Amino acid sequence: MNVLAKPADLEAAAPANVFVEEVKTVQHYTDRLFRFRMTRPASFRFRSGEFVMIGLMVDGKPIYRAYSIASPAWDEELEFFSIKVPDGPLTSHLQKIQPGDAVLMKKKPTGTLVNDALIPGKRVYMFSTGTGIAPFASLIRDPDTYEKFDQVILTHTCREVAELKYGEDLVQETLNDPLIGEFAKDKLVHYTSVTREDFPRQGRITDLIKSGKLFEDLGVPPLNPAVDRGMICGSMEMLKDTKELLEEAGLNEGANNKPAEFVVERAFVG
Ligand code: A2P
Repeated sequence: MNVLAKPADLEAAAPANVFVEEVKTVQHYTDRLFRFRMTRPASFRFRSGEFVMIGLMVDGKPIYRAYSIASPAWDEELEFFSIKVPDGPLTSHLQKIQPGDAVLMKKKPTGTLVNDALIPGKRVYMFSTGTGIAPFASLIRDPDTYEKFDQVILTHTCREVAELKYGEDLVQETLNDPLIGEFAKDKLVHYTSVTREDFPRQGRITDLIKSGKLFEDLGVPPLNPAVDRGMICGSMEMLKDTKELLEEAGLNEGANNKPAEFVVERAFVG
């Protein structure tokens, strides 16, 4: 079954609420993770940290999944970071895309991991596992994040060391970027850990919070609702467990219409 098509082949068939975009680059990190960049429609606006529905035509029908946009709102292309699920209805095909292929994208972005959903604070923690780093890839490249917070702490926990590579490259690129590097160099902290292989720092982020090691390593006081803010993106279990720890520390969950001390991305699918 050949589900990959060129943009010109799909233009006519695409519904009115869908953009047909062209893949520009694809980079594979491991047998489970890859990223791709594609064209951005001129009329498409979003807030850094939001997600969209991304799809392909499979057997004549579009199949969509929610994807956080990993590029910042000012970028002229759109970037996505994806898992490869061997039998996944979408990702089993999406992982085979090449530059020049067409990708469908629904026109309406949405999401709660946006700066507007947090009340001002001193420090923002962006807690991510696996591909949950994607919305933060957008937010750490957005000047608004650095205007709002004195310190931006991006935590990324993966099963294997090789899965950290996307985040490591991202942080280096961000620090070296002529525009964002200036904002990021004194404020951005990248904190990584691995759970299923040897690595200098091991363990789930939830355990590192509970033991206090996270704060010791960073040289900051424990979570304090007066100054600390949080954003969480990962598997359903990770969202639940991390949320509980933030609530225990006295932080309240916010939303677009009710900004508070932390936000969770519920649409994220592993
Ligand atoms: P672990 O290896 O102990 O399961 P996944 O790829 O399954 O989404 O996992 C990404 C990372 O998230 C892994 O390091 C995994 O640790 C960790 N993780 C899984 N479940 C939780 C949870 N409930 N709380 C915190 N971290 C978790």
